[in-house]
Amino acid sequence: MAEYYLGLMSGTSMDGIDAVLVDLQDSRPELVCARTFAWPEAIQQQLSQVIDQPETVSLQTLGQLDARVGETFAMTANALAREAGIPAQDIRAIGSHGQTLFHAPDSQPAFSHQCGDPNRIAELTGITTVADFRRRDIAAGGQGAPLVPAFHQAMFSSPEQNRAILNIGGMANLTVLPATANPVLGFDTGPGNVLMDSWYHRHHTGPYDKGGAWAAQGKCIPALQERLLEHPFLQQPPPKSTGREMFCGNWFDEQLDALPLPASPKAEDIQRTLLEFTARTIADAVRAYAAETRQLLVCGGGAHNTLLMQRIAGLLEAIETASTEAFGLHPDWVEAVAFAWLAKATLAGQPGNLPSVTGASHPVILGAIYPA
Ligand SMILES: Nc1ncnc2c1ncn2[C@@H]1O[C@H](COP(=O)(O)OP(=O)(O)OP(=O)(O)O)[C@@H](O)[C@H]1O
Ligand SMILES: [Mg+2]
Repeated sequence: MAEYYLGLMSGTSMDGIDAVLVDLQDSRPELVCARTFAWPEAIQQQLSQVIDQPETVSLQTLGQLDARVGETFAMTANALAREAGIPAQDIRAIGSHGQTLFHAPDSQPAFSHQCGDPNRIAELTGITTVADFRRRDIAAGGQGAPLVPAFHQAMFSSPEQNRAILNIGGMANLTVLPATANPVLGFDTGPGNVLMDSWYHRHHTGPYDKGGAWAAQGKCIPALQERLLEHPFLQQPPPKSTGREMFCGNWFDEQLDALPLPASPKAEDIQRTLLEFTARTIADAVRAYAAETRQLLVCGGGAHNTLLMQRIAGLLEAIETASTEAFGLHPDWVEAVAFAWLAKATLAGQPGNLPSVTGASHPVILGAIYPA
């Protein structure tokens, strides 16, 4: 009998809501239907404002946004289930990550805030919903992130090969999967697409620099790259996680302003520098914490940035770099499938965090269950 679960994920890039319907009956998930749904423009704008200028937001705005985002997630789940032809009563649960508004794992006290009211998702879909995955790990002393490594381990680990999984979303995160019984490592390496997207939006109307074509027209500015590489997060050892609070367009502007660049740089040179910087942070993290890796499997939207992928592969010559597609799961759906898989773990009463990754004091059952 099929065991259908629905995963909903909108990451830090806010490029859309990834929705997947998967059959988790076997240890290898079978993807039944997957689609990225556009955010309603007004909600996307409001989310951007809350994320970029949190100090301007009232409690009323926040409460209403939480409700609207929850409704949007519910409509997304309903649309996907319809498209797949699977009735709600046949879907065991929705795993909804929520939209992160603020991630502060190192503040005192630590917290991470996702919005998208799961009560509404359960009410409007008639499907049991699991949500709020990060805060129990934080309560146990962890970073609350990354949470996908347990799924990466179940899906991609090999007893023969030291593998690592690289997800390049808004931020980038690495999961180190040793072939031996050594513990799994995982952490955010720093920015993924976020800085490239932000600079691109200032100069173009499209969503992102497709394939890195615009960056390819520019030249890296070494002094700027070196300055960006001085960010303390990049020197910090794991466990660690980050977000748009740390790496965003404003942070980049400060670095640019502080640097006495000889002449006014060309916009495409900046884009190229951001791409080279991103590739370096990833390659440095692999060299520092996953030096024995033989295969680097890449997922997330950044896997489609041809130039970025070439540069990462160029910096890590001894490692075979490939898309997760070659290993059974298309790079666009790994994160959303992971949250469907984590919902199943939660319903089964099984922990979903890896303390070796998040730094939590013990394994915990993640999230809360909102019954259908
Ligand atoms: N063809 C492409 N060429 C270049 N970049 C691309 C392409 N397709 C997607 N991207 C990049 O991927 C980003 C979206 O990636 P993704 O959806 O994995 O990130 P996310 O939603 O922030 O997820 P998370 O942060 O949770 O991993 C886009 O904003 C864009 O920068
Ligand atoms: Mg996305």
